[in-house]
Amino acid sequence: MIRMAYSRVKLRFARGVEVTFANRDKALKQIEKLAEEGIYEPIVIYGPEGCGKTALFKQTYEILESMGYTVIYVNPIEDEEEEWRIRVSPDSRSIVEDVLRVAVGEKGATLVDLAIKIFGILSKRRKLVALLADDIFQAVGLDRAEIYVKRLLNFVEYPPEELEKAFIFVGSSEGITKTRVGRHRWAGIRIMWNMSRDGFRELYEQIPGEKPQFEEIWRLTGGNPGMLKKLYMYSWSADSVIDGIIAARGLKRFIDRLSDTQRRVLLESIEDPDALVFRLREARTRQEKDEIITLIDSLIELNLIVDDVSIRSEHIWIDEPPTTDRDIGIGDETAWQSPLHREAIRKTLKTHQHSDNTRPPTS
Ligand SMILES: Nc1ncnc2c1ncn2[C@@H]1O[C@H](COP(=O)(O)OP(=O)(O)O)[C@@H](O)[C@H]1O
Ligand SMILES: [Mg+2]
Repeated sequence: MIRMAYSRVKLRFARGVEVTFANRDKALKQIEKLAEEGIYEPIVIYGPEGCGKTALFKQTYEILESMGYTVIYVNPIEDEEEEWRIRVSPDSRSIVEDVLRVAVGEKGATLVDLAIKIFGILSKRRKLVALLADDIFQAVGLDRAEIYVKRLLNFVEYPPEELEKAFIFVGSSEGITKTRVGRHRWAGIRIMWNMSRDGFRELYEQIPGEKPQFEEIWRLTGGNPGMLKKLYMYSWSADSVIDGIIAARGLKRFIDRLSDTQRRVLLESIEDPDALVFRLREARTRQEKDEIITLIDSLIELNLIVDDVSIRSEHIWIDEPPTTDRDIGIGDETAWQSPLHREAIRKTLKTHQHSDNTRPPTS
């Protein structure tokens, strides 16, 4: 396979601030290897919101083109950089001109369908074709995630004669779809974590202007670049970012609905996220078990925690897996998506008293 050098992509970090794709060397190597060997199934990449999936997909676009692939990138919820809502390698645009013209004006599920259509057309005309479908589950509906993955699997299993290799990446922050997609053998699942300390420092150094010390930012973000972006946008006010999370996820309502057991376990999980699974294993009654399971599921659905950090096999991760570090909310088995997510829960628990007035006050 012909391989040309590729450059690191420029990414929009905030208004007027551009950064160069930093670090993630291991991920880039893994991607090159996959593209060289060819994939057997679509690969769905899960990871905390803001961990850098979209950034990685944009860099992947660059890598794949340098390897001779015709690439289609789609992101139906992209609202900042229009040129990244749908993008097709320049050398193939004329083949799909008509569909592409319609697609550019579309959003949501229709845009995803058109991107898949373009992928289908190009698969019959080119030897190496890649589809990078970023954040598509929200657009097509979380309950339809598996159907879309199955559709994509068909391309890999029954490729047109002309197609030598297909490459398919699907990106999602919706941890709740993971079990649905994972229960069939229709896709390979890879998990991506926040940036490593050194990698994150490379990004931090690129942020202009006066900024808090690296240590402080690391302790707040745990290496989540999206949280760094939020902090930057809110003039480094962690409180504003925390309030934003509380509002966006409706955390007050969530906390209100918790039973006493759930509240107690949640409080413990702030100190150690593994308390969730420990308490589940210890639960004596069926009801207690059910309540803790519901709590864990809700935290996953709200994109606050990730529950598979204990999986250590290499091939399930893209880039480096997280290492246990309770200071930034990473346990052996469960992790807060970032320390700021954890703070949002801590603050809501503290300020939002239990609405059940029948309980005696605790000291
Ligand atoms: N490896 C990286 N190098 C430089 N900047 C990054 C990197 N990863 C993420 N970012 C920055 O952080 C922001 C959030 O990352 P993004 O890729 O949108 O996260 P996700 O798609 O996982 O929610 C991006 O807008 C980008 O500016
Ligand atoms: Mg994204």
